[in-house]
Amino acid sequence: METIREVGALRDLVRSARGSGRTIGYVPTMGALHEGHLSLVRLARRESDFTVVSIFVNPLQFGPNEDLGRYPRKEADDAAALASESVDVLYLPDAAEMYPPDFSTSVEVRGVSEGGEGETRPGHFRGVATVVAKLFLQVSPDVAVFGQKDLQQVSVVRRMTRDLDFPIRLLVGPTVREPDGLAMSSRNAYLSPEERRVAAAFPRALFEARDRAGRGERGAAELSENVRRELRTARLDPDYVDVVDPETMAPVEIAAPGTALLAAVRIGKTRLIDNVLVP
Ligand code: PAF
Repeated sequence: METIREVGALRDLVRSARGSGRTIGYVPTMGALHEGHLSLVRLARRESDFTVVSIFVNPLQFGPNEDLGRYPRKEADDAAALASESVDVLYLPDAAEMYPPDFSTSVEVRGVSEGGEGETRPGHFRGVATVVAKLFLQVSPDVAVFGQKDLQQVSVVRRMTRDLDFPIRLLVGPTVREPDGLAMSSRNAYLSPEERRVAAAFPRALFEARDRAGRGERGAAELSENVRRELRTARLDPDYVDVVDPETMAPVEIAAPGTALLAAVRIGKTRLIDNVLVP
């Protein structure tokens, strides 16, 4: 695996791989890699011939009171994990290279960015769309892989890719969960042992709602109220519980097959997100 910090060197490697007839697969990450990320890397490897993974903790997508400063950084462990997955290139740009002091461009994806995470974290998806657009232009992959856990991010990136004509096929890897159901996330590391125990109630509440919807209890208001009730009973603080069309992120009144239930909760100082799809 080659570790590259400059965009020029990255472009040279990608150009020569493509020149020898290989297709480029790409997984953008912010590091602190876990099995969820590695499953996306494996998907990229299956679907392309040359795999690039980037690690960049993107300051633009963190609000002023969010966890940019304490976001876990584990460059050596991450590099070792990616090398053992036979990744071809690890791209580690630094913030000064990504954002010169007079950087003045942003990508705003209206509509899909607005509810859910977009409402609680104003500017978050502008930061995500801007960095993903830059990374897409830098890496120029044929295939890019994102995780289902960040379902609204997937909708934002999908819309941006279509609207701006990026010639990139997007793939979505399923959420990887701990044995008690908690979705893997770099932010799980913030949880104390007691918070970690309580956190299992979060996926349980979503799974129960998914099962209710599967049994025909399709009213969105009732489904989301049930999730809130379960979360509060477990002493978890729901931030939002939305029932939406995952393509548009528009709220629905009746959950149909494919409808998404997505939620965020606060556990102490940590905020976790998760989602399920109605079967
Ligand atoms: O999902 C993430 O880790 C980030 O939002 C992404 C896509 C790497 C952009 O910074």
